[in-house]
Amino acid sequence: MLLGVNIDHVATLRNARGGKEPDVIQAAYICEQNGGTSITTHLREDRRHIKDEDVRTLIKTISTKLNLEMAMAEDIQKIALEIKPHSICLVPEKRQEITTEGGLDVAGQLDKVTEFIAPLLNAGIIVSLFIDPEKKQVEASAKTGAQFIEMHTGAYSEAYGTDKEEAEFQKLKTSAKLAQDMGLNVNAGHGLNYENVHRMHEIPGLYELNIGHSIISRAVFTGLPEAVRKMADLIK
Ligand code: PXP
Repeated sequence: MLLGVNIDHVATLRNARGGKEPDVIQAAYICEQNGGTSITTHLREDRRHIKDEDVRTLIKTISTKLNLEMAMAEDIQKIALEIKPHSICLVPEKRQEITTEGGLDVAGQLDKVTEFIAPLLNAGIIVSLFIDPEKKQVEASAKTGAQFIEMHTGAYSEAYGTDKEEAEFQKLKTSAKLAQDMGLNVNAGHGLNYENVHRMHEIPGLYELNIGHSIISRAVFTGLPEAVRKMADLIK
């Protein structure tokens, strides 16, 4: 299993003072040096953390892969087509949310999603759809032409350690199997941390985990190299 490190919160901290530190480019470098196999950033419509110039610089400076999270917005699609990240992950986006709250409703807007990702696929960009672990979303995703899904692990993460954990975990396991049977590659992410991540090993064939908040939070106390290395070791 690979580790994509989401560095959005480094930009959140930088933007708190409006200056240049902490430097997101340096953060990406440190993540790569310590076991991160890709760098994930979410260019939100309100640009609350990562900014256009960040992704334009990251694409030139990182030595692994850039995974750009984005909503179905035309201006962001234009930037993706211009910078050509290794992959994009299509997410739903609401302006008032603190973080991505639910998965993308692919089943409810199959034509719209299929049309939106077509130019990205044609440009050679790998497309992943961030969906809840539900049969109808997996089945719809397989019809879009996307090569990957990323399963939303938020419900599992919240249920971890409670009597709801097993049910949430089984949804992930079943959905991953269905997706793989339908020819999709499977990533997972959201809310994963140093305690709950170990169960991802029980899902055969998971390709990459995208993890941000827990790593950057730990880095406040331990430093970023240790925080990334520890997570990379846990998921190896
Ligand atoms: N994957 C996606 C699609 C996300 O939107 C996020 C949050 O930005 C993550 C993974 C990482 O979640 P967390 O910050 O909780 O690790």
